[in-house]
Formats: sequence, C-alpha cells, structure tokens
Amino acid sequence: MRILVTGGAGFIGALAVWRLLDLGYDVCVVDNLSSGHRSALDRASRLAGRPVEFHLCDVRQTSQLISIMQSFRPEAVMHFAGLKSVAESVACPELYYENNVQGSLSLVQAMLQCQIDRLIFSSSATVYGANGVPPFGEDAELGPVNPYGRSKWMVELLMRDICSAHPEFSGIILRYFNPVGAHPSGLLGEWVQGSPNNLVPYVMGVLQGRFDRVRVFGSDYPTSDGSGVRDYIHVLDLVEGHVAALNLPKGLSVFNLGTGRGYSVHEVIQAMQSVSGRIIPFDVVDRRPGDVAVSIADPCRAHQAMAWKAERGLIEMCQDVWNFAQCSPKGYELE
Ligand code: NAD
Ligand code: UD1
Repeated sequence: MRILVTGGAGFIGALAVWRLLDLGYDVCVVDNLSSGHRSALDRASRLAGRPVEFHLCDVRQTSQLISIMQSFRPEAVMHFAGLKSVAESVACPELYYENNVQGSLSLVQAMLQCQIDRLIFSSSATVYGANGVPPFGEDAELGPVNPYGRSKWMVELLMRDICSAHPEFSGIILRYFNPVGAHPSGLLGEWVQGSPNNLVPYVMGVLQGRFDRVRVFGSDYPTSDGSGVRDYIHVLDLVEGHVAALNLPKGLSVFNLGTGRGYSVHEVIQAMQSVSGRIIPFDVVDRRPGDVAVSIADPCRAHQAMAWKAERGLIEMCQDVWNFAQCSPKGYELE
C-alpha cells in the first residue's frame, strides 16, 4: 500500500513515516519544511532500512500536489501538515486559516481530482474548547476558543461535507490529546527551537539548561494539586492509531486519540525528575489565559471501532523524551 504523508518531516509525521516504512508501506512525503527537518526523514528511513520519497512542496500548491499524486498513486493520505501554535494563531489568524484551512482544501481538491479517497486528518482536542465536562466523548459539543482550534474545526466541517457529497470517500478525523514521547532509539522526537509553549518541551529545556525554571500555570484549578490536568499520549501510540485508521470503512469517522487518564503539571514534573535523576526547579504562577482545568479523552470509540488502545504510560513517555535529548542534543542539526 502507498501512503502520502503531508508534514512528514515534523514531530509526529516523521514518527508516522518511520512506522509506515517499518510495516512495509511505500511512503511519499510532502512538506514545505517550515518547521520540519529533512534530516528527520533521513533518520526515519535509516531506522526502518527503507527509502522514502520526498517532495519539497506546500500543500497550498494544488497543481504540484496533483502531479505528485499522479505519479505516486497513493491509496491513502495522512495529513499532518499545518501550523500549531495557539499564541501565533491569535496574533496572526490569517496565517492559520491560510495554512490549515486553505491547505487542507487544496489537498482535498487534489485528492478528488486524482480519485484518492482516504484522508486521515490530524485534529486536536482543542476543538472541545471549554464547554464540556471531561472525559470528552466525540459527540461532545465543540467550541474552540482560538483561531488554531477554529482552523481544525473548519477542516472537520469540510471533511464532513466532502464525505456526504462523495460516498466513496473515507474521511477520518483523529483528535489528538497531548502527544509526548520519542522513538526509543533517541533518533526521532520533538525538537523545538526557541521558547516552547508546551509543558514537556519546556521542562526538557530546563533540564538542558536552556531555561532556569518551569512556570507552573495556576494553583487553584479544581484538581488534586491545583494545576492543570491533561491526557498525555505517547506519540508512538498516536501513530498506531493512524495505522489502524487505514482499515476503516468508507464515510466519515471521528476518533479521540488519548489514554483516558490525566496527569497534573506537578505529576509530569515529578515523572521527568524521576527519569532524569535531576531536580527540576519550578515557580507556581498565574493561570495561562485560555487554559482549561482538565482535558481527558474518552477513548472507547477508537477501541471499539479500530481495536486501538494506547499502551504506553507517562514514565515511558518521559523516558523516551529524556533519551531523545541525550542522543540528539542538537535535535536534527547535522552533527
Ligand atoms: P510539526 O510542526 O512538528 O509538524 C508539522 C509539519 O508540517 C512540519 O514538518 C512543517 O514543515 C509542515 N508544514 C506546515 N505547513 C505546511 C504547508 N502549508 N505545506 C506543507 N508542509 C507544511 O507539528 P506536529 O506536532 O508534528 O503536528 C502535526 C499535526 O498534528 C499538526 O497538524 C498539528 O496541528 C496536529 N496536532 C499536534 C499536536 C501536538 O501537540 N503536537 C496536538 C494536536 C494536533
Ligand atoms: C496546548 C494548546 C492546544 C494545542 C496543544 C498542542 C493552549 C491553550 N492550548 O494544549 O490548543 O492543541 O497545546 O500543541 O495553548 N503548562 C505549564 N507550564 C508551561 C506550559 C504548560 O504549567 O510552561 C501547563 C498548562 O497550563 C497545561 C499543561 O501544562 O495545564 C499542558 O500544557 P500544554 O503542553 O501547553 O498543552 P495544552 O495546554 O493542553
């Protein structure tokens, strides 16, 4: 089976590329390298012992996508390409609607033109917003509170309409909770340059001496220790969810990819301390605007429909992140 992977040079995409190659799929990557790294693909290919085709291409370039699809003839597309910073999306929403919404529309147009009818899309738990009561089931009311989240919601709506109009189409929406982790070899993981917004990359930056202390946002949430609770999922479990989605029947499917279990900020800091054997200094500061107290998935639907279940726990996620930092201290820079 041939799979086209957009955004395959990024954090999650490169791990998906490795896993697909490892399973024997032929893989073609389309990426504009705005945040991804060509060397991540080289590492994925080396780890799997198989080549990967790469095209430096922006998903907004429909005609270029069509010619790539006509020559590679993929049976499915995994669509990871997109921008993902909430803060940047608030400052520059047009960039997010252009990259994430227009980019996805361009991809769908190319797929329809080339009669490729399976699309697996990276959505986010952020579409649930602050309305619902966790754990969130897929039918919970949606209400994203920032342009990034709304761009994901718009693509979900686009996919819904495409599946209604084209009964041969399989549109699979995967709502990720909080992806963390790395390949156990230490060769593939998340490499954030500058100051990361997300908790685990920031904690890693403190361990590497790039930042002095972690700021714990909030002490008065209605949680066991007053800090925010999230459903952290190992990126390799997430990738297995994509592989399972290749066998779903036609039509629209929506799945949460989470573990169903939440951890507080203090529990994450403690887990990182225990795997690194180092003290992680932190300050408790005000809540971060836009944060919800608790975000946890109800993952039952994915279990029932795809026989998929997250297997790895928080310690394994932290171990793999720590190992990636040790093995790849300069991320994807050429050593
Ligand atoms: P990433 O930034 O590491 O990877 C995104 C990749 O897409 C990069 O390689 C980038 O160069 C490429 N890209 C961006 N815009 C493009 C465009 N217009 N054309 C072609 N390539 C483009 O991000 P990631 O963490 O791997 O996330 C992958 C997907 O999962 C994104 O769509 C993101 O919104 C979604 N997601 C991520 C998280 C998370 O916490 N990492 C959570 C929920 C959803
Ligand atoms: C954030 C985004 C979400 C996006 C996801 C993946 C916001 C409001 N939400 O989710 O839309 O899909 O990243 O990119 O930005 N925390 C600290 N200190 C830090 C960083 C985070 O205490 O330095 C806390 C947060 O308050 C939260 C938890 O750690 O309780 C996890 O935060 P983070 O990793 O940023 O993920 P989300 O907020 O869940």
